[in-house]
Parts: sequence; C-alpha cells; structure tokens
Amino acid sequence: MTNAHNSITDTHDLFDTALITRLANESYRESVGLAQSSSPLQRPSSSVPIVPTAFVGIPDGLSGIAGTPPTFPTTPAAFSGERPDHTNLAGGYPSATAAYPGSGRTEQPSRSATARSGDDLASGEHLPDSPDVYPFGEPRCNGSFKAPKTDAHSVHSVSDFYFLPGTDPQGAAASAEPSGSHALSLLEVNAIRRDFPALHQRVHGHPLIWFDNAATTQKPRSVIEATARFYRQDNSNIHRAAHALAARSSELYEGGREKVRQFIGAADSKEIVFVRGTTEAINLVAQTYGRAHIGAGDEILLTTMEHHANIVPWQLLAQQTGAVIRVAPINDAGELILDAVASLIGPRTKLVALTHVSNALGTINPIETVVGWARAYGARVLVDGAQSIPHMPINVQTLGCDFFVFSGHKLFGPTGIGVLYGKLPLLEEMPPYQGGGNMIRDVTFEHTTYQGSPQKFEAGTPDIAGVIGLGAAVDYLSHLGMPAVAGYEHALLEYATHALSSVRGLQLIGTAATKASVLSFVMDGIPNERVGQYLDRHGIAVRSGHHCAQPTVRRFGHEGTVRPSLAFYNTYEEIDRLVEALHELRRT
Ligand SMILES: Cc1ncc(COP(=O)(O)O)c(C=O)c1O
Repeated sequence: MTNAHNSITDTHDLFDTALITRLANESYRESVGLAQSSSPLQRPSSSVPIVPTAFVGIPDGLSGIAGTPPTFPTTPAAFSGERPDHTNLAGGYPSATAAYPGSGRTEQPSRSATARSGDDLASGEHLPDSPDVYPFGEPRCNGSFKAPKTDAHSVHSVSDFYFLPGTDPQGAAASAEPSGSHALSLLEVNAIRRDFPALHQRVHGHPLIWFDNAATTQKPRSVIEATARFYRQDNSNIHRAAHALAARSSELYEGGREKVRQFIGAADSKEIVFVRGTTEAINLVAQTYGRAHIGAGDEILLTTMEHHANIVPWQLLAQQTGAVIRVAPINDAGELILDAVASLIGPRTKLVALTHVSNALGTINPIETVVGWARAYGARVLVDGAQSIPHMPINVQTLGCDFFVFSGHKLFGPTGIGVLYGKLPLLEEMPPYQGGGNMIRDVTFEHTTYQGSPQKFEAGTPDIAGVIGLGAAVDYLSHLGMPAVAGYEHALLEYATHALSSVRGLQLIGTAATKASVLSFVMDGIPNERVGQYLDRHGIAVRSGHHCAQPTVRRFGHEGTVRPSLAFYNTYEEIDRLVEALHELRRT
C-alpha cells in the first residue's frame, strides 16, 4: 500500500471525466450501432454536446432504453446565438425539449415539457408508492432504481474502460457484482429521478429544479429507508453490548465502513474514519497530524480555490505552531498555475492541502501531479474530496494522497456524517482527536491507552444511522456506476455551459478545461441575490453568495456569484428552464 503511488505519472489522466465521457460514449455508439462519423463527440468542444435520447425524458421508464433509437442534437449552430426558425427558443439556443432536426423529440414531447401547460399538483405533494405520473410529467416515486441486467453483447461493461493495470475504480471487491458495470447508455435519468422523493414537489407553483447540489444533494429512497429501518428495527448502540440488536447495529455500522472502503478503493477498512463531515475531517488532521508534525517555520501549501473548511483549520494550526501558510495562485480560467505550485513546494513544505474539485469554480485539479511533487520533498497531501466524490470515480490509491476527506450529504447520503481516509501507518501513529468512550483500550486515572485506527478517532457514540445511510448511498451510486455518472454529468455540464453563454451579460466564473458540476456566474447589472430570488420564484434552487470560498471569488473581482450545480438526476430540460428564466430576468 505504501508504494501505491509509484505509478503516478502513468495513471495521471486515468479518471479524467473527458476520457470517461469519450469512452463511455464510444461504447454507447457501438452498442446502438451508430456510425463513427455520426458521433457528436468528434466535433470540437464548442459544438453541441452529446444528448443521448435515453436521457431526454422520452423513454417511459427503463423499459424504453433498449428500443430507443439513438438521436443526438445535430445542429452545430444551435449555440451560435442565432435563432433558428424551427424551434421555440430561449435566447438563441434550441431547448432540449424543442426540436433538434431529426431527433423526433417534437413528435414525442418530453415529460417535463408537458409541465409547462399547467397542472394541479399541490405544493409538496408526494405519493411515493403510486405507479402514477405527476401531472407535470414526473413519475411518482415508486421504488429504488435498479439498473437492468442487459445483454452482454449490446452494452459494454464499464470495466472495459478501465483495463489498465491497477485501475479498478471501485476498489477490489466492486468488480464482484453489477456495481458500476453498465455503460453510460443505461444511466436513464428519468427512471433514476423516481428514486428521489424530494425532486417531485412544487415550489412557488413550479416543479422543483434542484441545482444546489454543491451545497447538498437530495436523497434516494433507499437512503431514507435504510436510515428509517435502522431506527425502526435495529436501533442499538454499537460495539458495547451482548444482545442481538447491538450485534446487528454493529454489523451495519462496520458494513458501512467496508462499503466506503470499496467505493474509494482504500486498501484497508481501518483507513476509513467516520467523522461529521469534510470540515471535521480537516480539523482532525490539522489538530492531530498537524500538531505532531508541523512546527514553527514549516510550510503548509493551500490554493486560491479552497473552501473555508480547507483554510481556517490550517490558520488555527499556524497560529498554534508558528507554521507558515503559502497559497498557490490560479489563472483567469480558475485553473491552478502548475509552475507556481511546483515552485512553492520545497524542503520546508510539510503538507499540501488542496481541493480535488473547486466548489466555487468547478475546476478539477490534477491531484496525482501535485502528489508527485509533494512526495519529492516528503510532504504529505490532503485532498478535499467534498466536490469530487459525487461526480467521478475515486480511487485513493491511484490518487496517491495521504488523506482524502468528504461529506456524506454531498454524496446523496445523510447530513452529519463524513469520512476521513488516511494511510494506515499515518493514522496509527497520529494522536487521538477527542477523548471518551469507544476509543480507549484501557483507562486508569493515571494512564489511558488507546485503540488503533479507526476507533481511536471515533470517540463517543457515533452517527450510526448516518453511517448506514451513507452505506446505502454508496450502494446506490455503485449500482449506477460512477464512470456512467461522470460521463452523463460531463455532457450535461457542456450543454449548460453553451446554453448559459446565450444569456446577454452573463459571465461565467470558472472556465477551466477540466470541470465538474459547477456553473458559477454573475450577470451584468443584476445583483446575485436578485438572480437567486428570481430563480427561486420559478422553482429553481441555486446558491448565490460567496460559497464559503471568499478568496476564490475575490480572485475574480467579485464578492459572490450565482451557482447552479448539477447532479446525475438533473436533466437537459431543467437547464433549458434555468436559461429561459435568466432570459426572462434579463428582459424585465
Ligand atoms: C470543497 C468543499 N470543502 C469542504 C466543504 C465543507 O463541507 P461540510 O460543510 O459538509 O463539512 C464543502 C461544502 O460545501 C466544500 O464544497
């Protein structure tokens, strides 16, 4: 395990979402028999992104996938700002719900499109077990999504894309079951949406569009159920009693740890420490590893695009120890300036703490490269994975980092639970963070000895239901397959980027070449709060403000932005609604 990062340079781009998209869509094309030349992905990135029909709301549930002919938008001029005659456009780009020539969408309008004609759904109404469809077109929630077993000849296994040695994205055990084994074409979003009760409600008279995923994600029924089931039938404290319920809850809790281990490809479940979230995980590392290893004059390298959770704990440590904080700059696109990063890492650097994906800009950082530079000077690397874990496959051994941290609530799991991954030798020698029950081996008034990792860091009664819910979220995502999620979201992000650029006076903040999920923008002459409120009145939830990343936003000369952020349950139609609303706002 300690040598796991030796192949850093070989695997540098392994989990690049663009790569995932290309490979997944090649597979999609092959599986449906499309000619090579017809692939929209052959076009330069400025052209219309791929929009597999299966994701545009036409199929009636999963049964529609296999027989649906592949149709993609074929109008390169679609985003040119010109307004073609044949479509009902919002500001010069054809909506996903409008006609793309040859797409057949006008013959069979999407479900969301029918919502616009008005309906009678009461605010917040939700009937989870009904087979019905809401008047505005969304199917009512009726059970957990299960990707169908498919004909092995018609769909490539995702594992086909990850044939390089040691590149199993889900960890060793994941290959055993269907988890993540379906290609992109089977990520059928309208079916998936049925699993998320909160998505099926009206806000201010409009169907809710949840574009605040970077703040927190909605939960599938399987997560809600797993948590409720625990309280209904298994509730007990863990690790402490001889009775049946204690055994059950301990098993469920440790089962959650094993699921997380597999999901992030850790070598050992002892490397998975449950904490409250990303914030607590970083504070834990700062106050244990940091206090033990970082002293006066030592340097901690951060980047300009860090969330406050990856700034303030290091400032506190620096105040306590006399360590020095250095900050790596970013360019106007919101990308790390890599030369500067390389020159800022030196013999005094003890720790590099950087985000994998920026919550304010969406930039995906080249973690393996930075890890390689840090290694050369014996510096440790902590990766803030809060915004990467919901959007791409993560393998901590491939990344090579020493610590990887994330929050359950951004991963479609519960709030109040999160994960600190640390390499075992480091965790074993780190002092405890908090003292109390569960973390000790033996206590006398004179002297206490501690358990090993992870118990040493889990003092007191943990959030047992949270771990179980997080395990259910991991199961859900593993079933979808993170490469499939990444591929779909990448296409969605490209579509949204082009569509937003049609809004007059809208400036995107964060235009990195590699991005995930986040579309930050400001609008000329319209305050961010007003944009956010206007969208809210149309049922569209976005975040406006500084996103707990003030230094990042200020780097671009602003105090805040408007930030729609995407997840795999978002649709092209929802993006259309967002862009239409922004055009309307501009006209008011
Ligand atoms: C990049 C990043 N880091 C850290 C955090 C803090 O996460 P939490 O509040 O769940 O601890 C967030 C939350 O928005 C984030 O986006």
